[in-house]
Amino acid sequence: MTANPEVSKRSKNGKQSVPNHVAIIMDGNGRWAESRGLDVSEGHHAGFENLKRVVADFAKRGVGYLTLFAFSTENWDRPESEVNGILELAIAVIAHEAQQLHENGVRIKHLGQVDRLSPELRDELEQAVEMTAKNTGLTLGIAFDYGGRAEITYAVRQLIADGVPIDEIDESKFAEYLYTTDMPDVDLLIRTGGDFRISNFLLWQTAYSEFYSSETCWPDFFGEQVDQAFESFNERQRRFGKRI
Ligand code: IPE
Ligand code: IPE
Ligand code: MG
Repeated sequence: MTANPEVSKRSKNGKQSVPNHVAIIMDGNGRWAESRGLDVSEGHHAGFENLKRVVADFAKRGVGYLTLFAFSTENWDRPESEVNGILELAIAVIAHEAQQLHENGVRIKHLGQVDRLSPELRDELEQAVEMTAKNTGLTLGIAFDYGGRAEITYAVRQLIADGVPIDEIDESKFAEYLYTTDMPDVDLLIRTGGDFRISNFLLWQTAYSEFYSSETCWPDFFGEQVDQAFESFNERQRRFGKRI
């Protein structure tokens, strides 16, 4: 599963094409379940099952960083049973998958607040992050209890708490204080489930990301769906505000 730059940084026409940092808003678990007459918990279960496939899909294509939006700061407002179900699933998935990811050279990072997580989930995440900290393959960012506004607010508070002088605060200094410190900006932002909105995800890091929205609900987004997102990215001309 380790990134292979030889194969991956090349498209059919030889152009550099693989996004270094892909972020995914994994949306549509509820609709996936509803369309099958299933309970929403089944949708989240299928969604978590899809994680394994997708991490492998992206690592295989040579992506350096993959950030997955698993649970937002606003998702706490869902029914308690749904929230508890997601917490349980997250604990189980990390417990089952962390070792394998470690063996595949994946470095796991948690993006988000930790204080509201259950102690079990906090422990699992901390262990996975610690175990994989020195790996040099794909960096997998797990955004759990993540909100873009909360992240920016947290960064401001930390800057002040550290007493950073005003004239030392520039964009790169500020970025060091975000959860994504040491991760590059997002090149490709994918949202599954068909909507076109950011839902408080990576507000700072997506300033110049290419956006791709897929009608496919998250549990069915793998393989060919991933290929289509890459093809679409390949067709974009990124200008970053310049005249090209
Ligand atoms: C995304 O699926 C998972 C989380 C937000 C935790 P949803 O549960 O939001 O699925 P839809 O949008 O209701 O279909
Ligand atoms: C975004 O999906 C959050 C995650 C995928 C974790 P939501 O379902 O929470 O977003 P909205 O409510 O449709 O904007
Ligand atoms: Mg949703």
